Amino acid sequence: MRNEPFMRTYSPRQEALARAAAQRQAAAAQRPAADGASAGALAQYMVKTEPYYRPVADEVELYEAAYSVRMPIMLKGPTGCGKTRFVEYMAWRLGKPLITVACNEDMTASDLVGRFLLDASGTRWQDGPLALAARHGAICYLDEVVEARQDTTVVIHPLTDARRMLPLEKKGEVIEAHPDFQIVISYNPGYQSLMKDLKQSTKQRFGALDFNYPEHEIEAEIVAHESGVSLEVAKNLVHIGERARNLKGHGLDEGLSTRMLIYAGSLIAKGVPPLAACRVALVRPITDDPDMRDALDSAVTTYF
Ligand SMILES: Nc1ncnc2c1ncn2[C@@H]1O[C@H](COP(=O)(O)OP(=O)(O)O)[C@@H](O)[C@H]1O
Ligand SMILES: [Mg+2]
Repeated sequence: MRNEPFMRTYSPRQEALARAAAQRQAAAAQRPAADGASAGALAQYMVKTEPYYRPVADEVELYEAAYSVRMPIMLKGPTGCGKTRFVEYMAWRLGKPLITVACNEDMTASDLVGRFLLDASGTRWQDGPLALAARHGAICYLDEVVEARQDTTVVIHPLTDARRMLPLEKKGEVIEAHPDFQIVISYNPGYQSLMKDLKQSTKQRFGALDFNYPEHEIEAEIVAHESGVSLEVAKNLVHIGERARNLKGHGLDEGLSTRMLIYAGSLIAKGVPPLAACRVALVRPITDDPDMRDALDSAVTTYF
């Protein structure tokens, strides 16, 4: 599905955007050597084999439309529900390299943008992941972006509006983003707090796709595929997951993720008895509260 937003209504801003995009594309076409270098620089970031991804709704089509206009995208949802797998799948499907950054609070703007390194022959500039992606045309995925400090996240701003550029202040260079470049962030609304949230000015630069634990049949299919247990066992695991998710807010901070169900399934597939597998992979990790553990253990014994 291709989206042609510039064709529908006249808007000076959109026309300027379209003109700028056309100019950039023409400029890129005249840089065959650079593109050859780009392919080399990003070869290691190509997703070579098709990742298994089971679509849950129309997220694949929506993402393709967003990519076709290079809209920055935010994947929202609880941990372990398929956000990272989805972006890997989309990068493979679009045939674009994917550079993933796991964000943390010690991360600085230089970690994203790049820095001068000292070596035997003097100083040498090294692009950070964001600069590498913008220069050569990759999808840059900032995983769990709220973990980064707000003064770090603001460096993505000029890349997320019509300018599509990245100033490298220390180097005195401005990178004009490659036409293939796109930025994607993931975000867990459950972790939202005043201290750890995205600035409104950051949020409003993104289109958002909502993710959640898939509906029963689909989640069972995923758990069976990923862990190697039968569909029947996978369905039981999903039932346990759903029970636990109902306890969220009543003593549990987060529901059981699809990832945890897959862990439990993988142990079962290795021959660990289901009760022990569920204890290790599902119950013990998410709570230390004895009553809550009892409640979850009894949900496990209902199904195994
Ligand atoms: N729709 C899906 N299709 C295929 N696998 C999925 C899907 N949703 C979740 N998974 C599985 O769950 C695991 C955890 O998902 P992940 O993408 O790492 O979660 P998140 O990034 O949301 O924390 C993946 O490794 C994958 O095995
Ligand atoms: Mg993830």
